[in-house]
Amino acid sequence: MMVVLLGPPGAGKGTHAAAIRDAFTIPHISTGEMLRGAIEEGSPVGLKAKTIVEDGQLVPDEVMAEMVEERLSAADAVKGFVLDGYPRNVPQARALDGILSGRSARLDRVLSLVVEDAEIVRRLSGRRTCPGCGHIYHVSGAAPRTEGRCDACGTALVRRADDQPEVIARRISVYAAQTEPLVAFYRDRGLLEEVDAMGPVPVVRERILEVLQ
Ligand code: AP5
Repeated sequence: MMVVLLGPPGAGKGTHAAAIRDAFTIPHISTGEMLRGAIEEGSPVGLKAKTIVEDGQLVPDEVMAEMVEERLSAADAVKGFVLDGYPRNVPQARALDGILSGRSARLDRVLSLVVEDAEIVRRLSGRRTCPGCGHIYHVSGAAPRTEGRCDACGTALVRRADDQPEVIARRISVYAAQTEPLVAFYRDRGLLEEVDAMGPVPVVRERILEVLQ
């Protein structure tokens, strides 16, 4: 099962990629998480990416291609994966095709999560994430049992640096200009399934798993 999740910021890619990971026993590969980890470590990639990510722009394609190729070479990703946040434009989609065809593999499905702009702002304004295990919460609807602490590992929850109102607006417009063309790109290849991502998390999860079964 080689799956890509597309969708604007806050569509629920990270939330539902975790459910796909658990349902199909495949790794969840989030390029946003990888970049945030690199920024936290202060690695060369992290230093290059920090201001770009915090500004809501896209990190250069060649940096991303190298990162994704290395991650997809790991043993756990040979038989399948759910990619969240990559590709993000047509050149990245072509780079992914190249990486996969180099190992005689191809994508099985691309899911595009569809959500309204007002809901994106609501979701991202209340999102809290765990820097320890990556679990995603929301102050209303998906709140942790103890306020400000991760249920799974107890780490203090944080608000992402790019979840500020002006950066959210920029990320939405970067998505519309650069990533949305991938919907037509993958539709033309017969790989696209659009999923209504409005509604409660369990309802959207069922829609997604039904498409993938
Ligand atoms: P990335 O981390 O990929 O961010 P994003 O695409 O903007 O998406 P988000 O993580 O914000 O949202 P999501 O769809 O995962 O929603 P979530 O499940 O958290 O990328 C960050 C940055 O890194 C980019 O801006 C860019 O700079 C850089 N980058 C990454 N990849 C790159 C690439 N390939 N090329 C270049 N640059 C790259 O859910 C959001 C909230 O909503 C949560 O609080 C959740 O609890 C809640 N929620 C989810 N679903 C529901 C629901 N159905 N009902 C109610 N609440 C819900």
